[in-house]
Amino acid sequence: MLRILCLVLCGLLTTARADPGALLRLGMDIMNREVQNAMDESHILEKMAAEAGKKRPGMKPIKGITNLKVKDVQLPVITLNFVPEVGIFQCVSTGMTITGKSFMGGNMEIIVVLNITATNRLLQDEEMGLPMFKSEGCEVILVSVKTNLPSNMLPKVVNKFLDSTLHKVLPGLMCPAIDAVLGYVNKKWANVNAPMPVGQMGTVKYVLTSIPTTTASYIQVDFSPVVQQHEGSIIQLADAGEALGFPEDYAEGSSQLLLSAAFLTAELALLQKSFDVNVQDTMIGKLPPQTTETLARFIPEVAEAYPKWKPLVTQIRINKPLEVTMKTGKSLLHLHGTLEMFAARRPGKALAPLFLLETHFNLKIQYSVRENRLQMSTSLDRLLSLSRGSSSIGAFNEKELTGFITDFLQEAYIPAINDALQVGLPLPDFLDMNYNLVELNIVENALVLDLKLHRPGQDLPASCLHTTNRLHAVGEPTWSPTTRAASLDEE
Ligand SMILES: *[C@@H]1O[C@H](CO)[C@@H](O)[C@H](O)[C@H]1NC(C)=O
Repeated sequence: MLRILCLVLCGLLTTARADPGALLRLGMDIMNREVQNAMDESHILEKMAAEAGKKRPGMKPIKGITNLKVKDVQLPVITLNFVPEVGIFQCVSTGMTITGKSFMGGNMEIIVVLNITATNRLLQDEEMGLPMFKSEGCEVILVSVKTNLPSNMLPKVVNKFLDSTLHKVLPGLMCPAIDAVLGYVNKKWANVNAPMPVGQMGTVKYVLTSIPTTTASYIQVDFSPVVQQHEGSIIQLADAGEALGFPEDYAEGSSQLLLSAAFLTAELALLQKSFDVNVQDTMIGKLPPQTTETLARFIPEVAEAYPKWKPLVTQIRINKPLEVTMKTGKSLLHLHGTLEMFAARRPGKALAPLFLLETHFNLKIQYSVRENRLQMSTSLDRLLSLSRGSSSIGAFNEKELTGFITDFLQEAYIPAINDALQVGLPLPDFLDMNYNLVELNIVENALVLDLKLHRPGQDLPASCLHTTNRLHAVGEPTWSPTTRAASLDEE
């Protein structure tokens, strides 16, 4: 009973203080690209044009102007700004041409330029546990109105048209565009917390720790990744002890993903079984033949036991949890286990055990990214300890074997480890992120992926934070002077 209680309570406690194992910092670069992509994919331009062309109940005819049409909607320019603790301020600048026939028979054209602004609040979808933007306070701001109507012709009529028609119609027409774009951005989070395979051994899920936070220069998403074996048990992340953080030296507007050493340790734990390796080839790389005769050069006792040489079989068993550590610029995989050597006898006969060594060694990890998975490749860093356990050939000085075992690990064991590591570790799948251009940095207790995008050197567009004329606000719009014909503000 107590045990059950503890299982429940301890379970609650661990989830309550769940240390994020991965952090994502989304700068303006990614958000800009995402919103632009969403615009392209949502075909918002075409939809706006189609909507604008429709007859609407609020659209009163202008006296003396017939055949009213919306001719074209300009390619919208979107600008974004982070709003601390809230989300993103979004501005869509676009324009359209309204055409008609004036009663004098001439063609009339009104070119309207407008900004649509809204605050996209960043929330967490309760049901799905995903980040979600929700737009608030959509406003349409008239930037300029130009017309080719002769100056003596009814600026009042046009003013009235703008007042009664555009003021009423545009927000309803344009604000859904903001929502449509957000809908596309939101959808691109859908897979982030889905389980992704690590070979045949298990899965990783990037579960959000809490609602993402927004600062003046980025959005931060904290993940408490769930690493789960195929039989179902969850591998707990070791408590990192200190809070994880990004180094401060990344460029303004850039985006990074940080993976803690504790998280990578848990992921590799899924693969630990495949780090148990049997080596029975006699000829391996540059190594001397793996036989009792070679071994006897270091341990004469072997020659006494096996006057006629036999092939060697070596079994490595990792018997303690492995660990990944990171110090600036260097990452190690710590392995503790046993290395047992056998003499192979004739086929069909059992292996004859020679001796067993307890060992601790480190591998240096090199990280890279391929096909949106984190790849690791190792090389021997140091053989830290070698101590004799059982021996069927009597006592011997195992230190004599240091060089032989070091070469063996490098040539025979590490290739097997690197093979097992080739499955790669899945990276979070969000906003169609393509990780192929990332730059990797090993920092204190974490690996940082600097998320470089495809389109480098693009300038951020001008912002339209400072709003002047809100269509839904009371008051006359201020017209910018027209280039052609009449200017509406000379009355
Ligand atoms: C409209 O948006 C553009 C940027 O897209 C900005 O330069 C301009 O100042 C904005 N105009 C108004 C009136 O808000």
